[in-house]
Amino acid sequence: MSATTSAPLLQARGISKSFGAVKAVDDVDITASPGRISAVIGPNGAGKTTLFNALSGFSAADAGTVTLDGRDITSLPPHRIARLGLVRTFQTARPLRTATVLENVLAGTYLHGRGGIGAALFPTPRVRRAEAALVERSRATLAAVGLLAEQDRYPDELAAGQLRLLEIARGLAAEPRVLLLDEPAAGLNKVETSRLEESLLEIRASGTAVLLVEHDVDLVLRVSDHVTVLDFGRLLRSGAPEDIRRDPAVAAAYFGTEDPVPAPSDEGGA
Ligand SMILES: Nc1ncnc2c1ncn2[C@@H]1O[C@H](COP(=O)(O)OP(=O)(O)O)[C@@H](O)[C@H]1O
Ligand SMILES: [Mg+2]
Repeated sequence: MSATTSAPLLQARGISKSFGAVKAVDDVDITASPGRISAVIGPNGAGKTTLFNALSGFSAADAGTVTLDGRDITSLPPHRIARLGLVRTFQTARPLRTATVLENVLAGTYLHGRGGIGAALFPTPRVRRAEAALVERSRATLAAVGLLAEQDRYPDELAAGQLRLLEIARGLAAEPRVLLLDEPAAGLNKVETSRLEESLLEIRASGTAVLLVEHDVDLVLRVSDHVTVLDFGRLLRSGAPEDIRRDPAVAAAYFGTEDPVPAPSDEGGA
């Protein structure tokens, strides 16, 4: 571990959220830092999505504080949090079905748009140039996730994996400082997963702080800089991927065995 760790951009402390008697998230701390991928793993129902909802303002936590770049965002509504640079994707992709792939990504860029209805109805040359720049940026975002060839298709024409990549591109279009991805590899085949993995590494290299909830443990252990393990809403372990892989308590909670998580094979096996 390097001694020069910068302060986390996103810092959540003591997050708790109950649904009736169920403590879905119970006193969890989590951070995300620029140019790093921090993962949250844990069995189904461990509280991962509930934690994301609390961080992104979609469902307020019962307790705890969330700061973004030192600013308290705990009780802000989701659109204000997004405008401050924390953007999340959903476990189920939510594209605009009547818009093309490119238009879907364009819609994401308007988070930072200055023009109102007037600018849209009576575009000046300056507005037209700004629009053209947004289209270019959206195309670059599509290229980054390998979807440029599909820019004129509609979401319903895409394969499941492509839809997930579109969801990520929509998030990226807002140029987030922190990107929360909820199970981006769910339903992806091997080729799509490796395309996703490449995209994740590119997003990290661009300096974005990534917080990743993911079921594919091999993927998590390959790409993450830091892993937090939740179990029944509580923080079970937090550490480097190598340590998480070897931890018997993690193996027991997550896989129902005390054997360490098997190392991913480089031989292209399962
Ligand atoms: N809206 C809700 N109403 C009631 N219970 C919920 C709700 N959302 C989540 N839960 C419960 O909270 C726990 C954590 O769920 P969730 O955060 O979706 O877990 P994960 O994303 O890790 O699979 C589960 O027991 C789930 O049934
Ligand atoms: Mg979930």
